[in-house]
Amino acid sequence: MSFLSRHAMLEKNATLMLVASLLVVSIGGIVEIAPLFYLENTIEDVEGMRPYSPLELTGREIYIREGCYNCHSQMIRPMRDEVERYGNYSLAAESQYDHPFQWGSKRTGPDLARVGGRYSDEWHVDHMSDPQSVVPESVMPKYGYLTETIIKPTYIRDLLGAHRAVGVPYTDEMIENAVADFNVQIDPYGDWEDMVARYPKAQVRNFDMEPGISEMDALIAYLQMLGTLVDFSTFTPDASR
Ligand code: HEC
Repeated sequence: MSFLSRHAMLEKNATLMLVASLLVVSIGGIVEIAPLFYLENTIEDVEGMRPYSPLELTGREIYIREGCYNCHSQMIRPMRDEVERYGNYSLAAESQYDHPFQWGSKRTGPDLARVGGRYSDEWHVDHMSDPQSVVPESVMPKYGYLTETIIKPTYIRDLLGAHRAVGVPYTDEMIENAVADFNVQIDPYGDWEDMVARYPKAQVRNFDMEPGISEMDALIAYLQMLGTLVDFSTFTPDASR
């Protein structure tokens, strides 16, 4: 029996075929996965990356709740058209504190990985409330009700704690101050220095320009920080990793 005709045995015996396929797939899997456990560092440390501030993290929860990821990705691929449109391609480190990550798989709307600072807060309020008022051909739904829902940081410490449990390096100090940090981020006249020391580059202002902290404030705080933490004028990727 020639070597190739032995293959007929596999093709005629379903159980043997199954066992052989599992064997092949697991070898392939081990070859891909095993090295990751032995690498010193799978994700390159990048200067500027920090966990989300309490208000930003709350905004991110709203982003997930509203299903924004169904139409928006947060992952700029290293292709020229994307880099020219959206900015530097996304680094692994930029989603290092995302649980779950928001890369998305569909772009009905544009990628949002670097939308921070691209528009004013007023633009975001107008656009969220009535997207067609600023982009007439838009198919994005209206989210104006977010302005009406005032939120309290009742569960913010638990939220930070939950993220710490899955590996985000929130310190005890961050968790202790979560409520104050949440409140002060929309108050430019408050004592926000400590908050900004804990979360460098956190933006402090009343995002929706209405009294109280609304879901709109939290969501815009999140959108306005997306992609702003890493300074690409000084960043050089480490090609050895
Ligand atoms: C049905 C799909 C859909 C959903 C859901 C959706 N969007 Fe959009 N979004 C779009 C489209 C299409 C555009 C482009 C036209 C426009 O600017 O309105 C857009 C544009 C945007 C922009 C402007 C981006 C840029 O660079 O110009 C932002 C910011 C944005 N969306 C945020 C959100 C947020 C936050 C949510 C969830 C609360 C959301 N979108 C939900 C479809 C969607």
